[in-house]
Amino acid sequence: MAAKVMGIAAGRPNGNSEILLKQALLACQQGGAEVVFINLRDFTILDCTGCTVCSEGMARGKRVPCSLKNKDDKDRIMEVMLNQDGVIFSVPTYDLTPASNYLTFAHRNLAYETAFLEHIGAIEHKDRVAGLIAVGGSMHDWQSMALSALQATTFTNSFQIVDMLLARQCPSPAQCVLNDELMSRAYKIGENVIKSLNTPVKERNWLGDEDEGWCPNCHSGLLIQGHPHWDGIRWPIECAVCGAGGDLVQDGEGKWKFVIASDGLIRDRFTNEGREHHLVEIGQTHGKFYQNRAAVDEKIKKFKELSFKGL
Ligand SMILES: Cc1cc2nc3c(=O)[nH]c(=O)nc-3n(C[C@H](O)[C@H](O)[C@H](O)COP(=O)(O)O)c2cc1C
Repeated sequence: MAAKVMGIAAGRPNGNSEILLKQALLACQQGGAEVVFINLRDFTILDCTGCTVCSEGMARGKRVPCSLKNKDDKDRIMEVMLNQDGVIFSVPTYDLTPASNYLTFAHRNLAYETAFLEHIGAIEHKDRVAGLIAVGGSMHDWQSMALSALQATTFTNSFQIVDMLLARQCPSPAQCVLNDELMSRAYKIGENVIKSLNTPVKERNWLGDEDEGWCPNCHSGLLIQGHPHWDGIRWPIECAVCGAGGDLVQDGEGKWKFVIASDGLIRDRFTNEGREHHLVEIGQTHGKFYQNRAAVDEKIKKFKELSFKGL
C-alpha cells in the first residue's frame, strides 16, 4: 500500500510556504506516496479555550473530545492528519516564531495527545514522521525561534522529525522560486520523508543536515540556562525543545558543543516516557491547588472584587 503523506501550509496563497511545501510533496509523490495538501488559511480553527476537559478526561482514563469539536474544522483535519505516515509542515516566520494561525492549530492538539490516548487504550499506536519548513524574509537571526517552536508543536502527536529546513530571504510571495538551491533543499525534505518511510521504524534516524542545531538529540538550535526542575534535578544547560540536559564543552579545536549528560535524556519530550514524567509533574502541581482550595477561595476574593478601567 502506498505511504500517505500530508502537507500542511500556513502562509499566503501561492506564497513561499505553499510553494516550498509543494516542492517537497512532489518528491513524495514521485517516491510513490499518496499526497494530500492543505493550507490552514482555508479552514476555521478556533483558539484552545484552556478548558482542559480533554486532559482531565485522559487523566481519568477516558477520552473526552475537545469542547470545540464540531464548532470548527480542527477535528476534520486531525482525522486525516493522524491517519498519515508522514506530514510536512511549512509555516511562515512572524516575529521570529511560527505564524499564529499555525500555533492556534497546534495548540488544539492536546485533545489528540497520542501517547496519552494510546496509554488509556483509546487509540492504536501509529508511527509517524515529520518534516518541517520555516520560511521568512530574513536570515537565521530573524527566525531564531521558528524551527524550534515548530518542533515543539510536534511531540503531542509523537512525530519523529527526520528533516528541517530554515528557508531564508524569502520576503515577497513566491520569492523562493528564484533560489534553485533552496528549491532543491525543499525537494530533499520530501525525499527524506520517503526514505524514512521506507526504513524500518526502529532504524529511522535524522536525515537532515548533520550540523543542524546545537542539540545532538533533536537538532534544535535553542539552548537555555538550566534551573532546578520541580523535583530538584538540574543541568547547567538544557535544550529548549527536547529538554535534554548537559553542558557546553569546548573540543580540541576550540569549538563549543552541547554535550548531553549521562542522565540528560530522562526528560526527553520526544519519548513517551519523557512526557509521562511530565504528567507526574502536572499531577503534583495541580495537587497543590486541590489540597489548598479553601485558601485559594479566600485569597481570590480580593482579585474578584478588584477591577480596573478597560477599553
Ligand atoms: C507580521 C509579519 C511578521 C514577520 N516577521 C518576520 C520575522 O520575524 N522574520 C522573518 O524572517 N520574516 C518575517 N516576516 C516575513 C515572512 O516570514 C515572509 O514574507 C514569508 O515568506 C511569508 O510566507 P508566505 O509567503 O508563505 O506567506 C514577517 C511577515 C509578516 C507579515
